[in-house]
Amino acid sequence: MEPAPQNGPIGIFDSGIGGLSVAAAIAEILPDERLLYVADNARAPYGPQSAKSILAYSREITRHLIGQGAKLIVVACNTATSIAIDQLRRDFPEMPFVGLEPAVKPAASGETIGVLATRATLASPRYLVLKEKYLGGKTVREDPCVGLVPIIEAEATGSPRLREKLNSILHPLVNDGVDTLVLGCTHYPMVKADIQAVAGHGVRVIDPSPAAARQVKRRLEEAGILAEPGAQRIAHDFLATGDGRALQRTLLGLPALNRHRRLLVPNVQLS
Ligand code: DGL
Repeated sequence: MEPAPQNGPIGIFDSGIGGLSVAAAIAEILPDERLLYVADNARAPYGPQSAKSILAYSREITRHLIGQGAKLIVVACNTATSIAIDQLRRDFPEMPFVGLEPAVKPAASGETIGVLATRATLASPRYLVLKEKYLGGKTVREDPCVGLVPIIEAEATGSPRLREKLNSILHPLVNDGVDTLVLGCTHYPMVKADIQAVAGHGVRVIDPSPAAARQVKRRLEEAGILAEPGAQRIAHDFLATGDGRALQRTLLGLPALNRHRRLLVPNVQLS
């Protein structure tokens, strides 16, 4: 007998630990849902890679998540969303997808807006359309944050190397009068406290994870596939295509993801 679709996990993927910012926000408002997370850290970072590679990785992970019974897939990576989500929706029309995009709409109340995102996201037609729609006429300063994602993967928050990197990225933006900062890569909310401290408390920092989690909830409700409260014994699964240390370290700091049993499997071969 086919398992009931509402009992399937929510599939979530990113190039590494970044999507855990979204996974934690989902677990916060949907505590009965089972999560199946893929960190493609063997091929990270995605940001500097070609659209063709990012699309191929996204398709491969999506197939894997569908093979594991995922009922909805969260592309918890701005880079993969901006390059691949339209094609994923065409390739897998039965599957509901939720993507992550730079939160330029809520930023529109600012005067000078800083957008932090990978090079691939900043160059993508999806982002350029969004920027024109919501921030046309505003001063927008963008930074591709070269080298930041590998530091976030490797180091704990507050580390001197992280602070030094953030100083070099954020000081020019703050000097140019940026009053609002959009975190357009899911890795950046993992170090939001460092970003806020370096940018200064006068700068509004926008983390899109809670809004993305609310969107996941709406999509599950619309499709009638919300997990029944208490119906399943929950264990979340976290898979890494490379080693599992960054995932392990980060999970320990995210209480919402520690309320249930969890299984962490490194060096997974995606089928
Ligand atoms: N976390 C990702 C994003 O939201 C990808 C970062 C990377 O691998 O370069 O864009």
